[in-house]
Amino acid sequence: MKTIGYAIVGTGYFGAELGRIMNEQEGARVVAVLDPENGETIAKEYGCEVETDLDTLCARPDVDAVIVATPNYLHKEPVLTAARHKKHVFCEKPIALSYQDCDEMVKTAEENGVIFMAGHVMNFFRGVRHAKQLIAEGKIGRVLYAHSARNGWEEPQPEISWKKIRAKSGGHLYHHIHELDCIQFIMGPAVEVTMIGGNVAHQGEQFGDEDDMLFLNLQFANNTYGVIEYGSAFHWPEHYVLIQGTEGAIRIDMCNVGMTVKTKDGSEEHYLVHETKEEDDDRTRIYHSTEMDGAIQYGHPGKKPPMWLHGIMKNEMRYFNGIMHGEPVPDEFRPLMTGAAARAAIATADAATRSLREDRKVKISEITG
Ligand SMILES: NC(=O)c1ccc[n+]([C@@H]2O[C@H](COP(=O)([O-])OP(=O)(O)OC[C@H]3O[C@@H](n4cnc5c(N)ncnc54)[C@H](O)[C@@H]3O)[C@@H](O)[C@H]2O)c1
Repeated sequence: MKTIGYAIVGTGYFGAELGRIMNEQEGARVVAVLDPENGETIAKEYGCEVETDLDTLCARPDVDAVIVATPNYLHKEPVLTAARHKKHVFCEKPIALSYQDCDEMVKTAEENGVIFMAGHVMNFFRGVRHAKQLIAEGKIGRVLYAHSARNGWEEPQPEISWKKIRAKSGGHLYHHIHELDCIQFIMGPAVEVTMIGGNVAHQGEQFGDEDDMLFLNLQFANNTYGVIEYGSAFHWPEHYVLIQGTEGAIRIDMCNVGMTVKTKDGSEEHYLVHETKEEDDDRTRIYHSTEMDGAIQYGHPGKKPPMWLHGIMKNEMRYFNGIMHGEPVPDEFRPLMTGAAARAAIATADAATRSLREDRKVKISEITG
């Protein structure tokens, strides 16, 4: 088996772990990293080289694919550079902080004939995959409505991470785009959106400048709807995706972790959200201890992801490495590889942002043109 050479741009909390996981895959080797703060340390750990210039990194003949895990506002340059050097790309979520940038990134990959995978990792949850499969089999009938919440409470911060600065992270809506992406995978892309919200309880030096309460109302085709809540001003934490159909409903609970399917005959079935019961229970434990998860738990360089997250990162990297080795793209993941999921997520997020700013309902076509 040929060994695929990977480069990682951004080896903080997430990028470093993606690299560790990739190094464990068959026929995969991280050959170089680039990160002005943490590159040296991680290169030493991996036993690979460190580069300081993007062009030099992407020009290396031993680099076949580039994994981009820089802060959200710094995804574009490494993606464009890699694609122009004909290197395949995996990019962390949110792909970009504007539809225009996202479109340019997808188009550049297309023009250069390289794979551009959106790192929307929630699609690799066992529960999400199972829910999509049950929906496709008609288990809950025609899907009418989807609702998600990703809410918690944020305490004053000792220092302000880029993740709390709207211009760098995009705020909760972009940074936690997982649920919006997941709901659009199930319902199809939204047609129209309204968003209300604001910064209600986190002003001052010990907080960033993002809005801490956001409520999106989504209209999909065929008279179907969605509601998404995000924020860090909620003392009663909630984290779930609920899908309602004509014959039943599915709830993927990420607080008291588990998936429940209810059908109209009154029956209830229970399934895992993550790979094992141990992973589900560990995530529940994290939610119920002081170590908060979800809306307001953020990693930082040097920190290791929890067991459940490590599990889905492994699924995602195994899949990407398989694609690099020529495995076919299954239908369920196709939108991650065509730019469709990336575009849909950012277009709807941009439309929601415009709705909030202009205090009106916004059609997604106003963003996509
Ligand atoms: N899929 C998920 O569940 C998930 C979870 C966490 C983070 N992420 C995403 O991963 C990305 C990184 O997040 P993180 O938690 O690792 O943040 P982090 O702050 O821990 O790491 C970011 C790293 O990027 C480096 N960096 C900054 N500017 C750079 C540049 N110009 N070139 C190269 N490296 C640069 C920093 O030095 C740092 O080491 C973000 O896009 C984030 O949204 C995804």
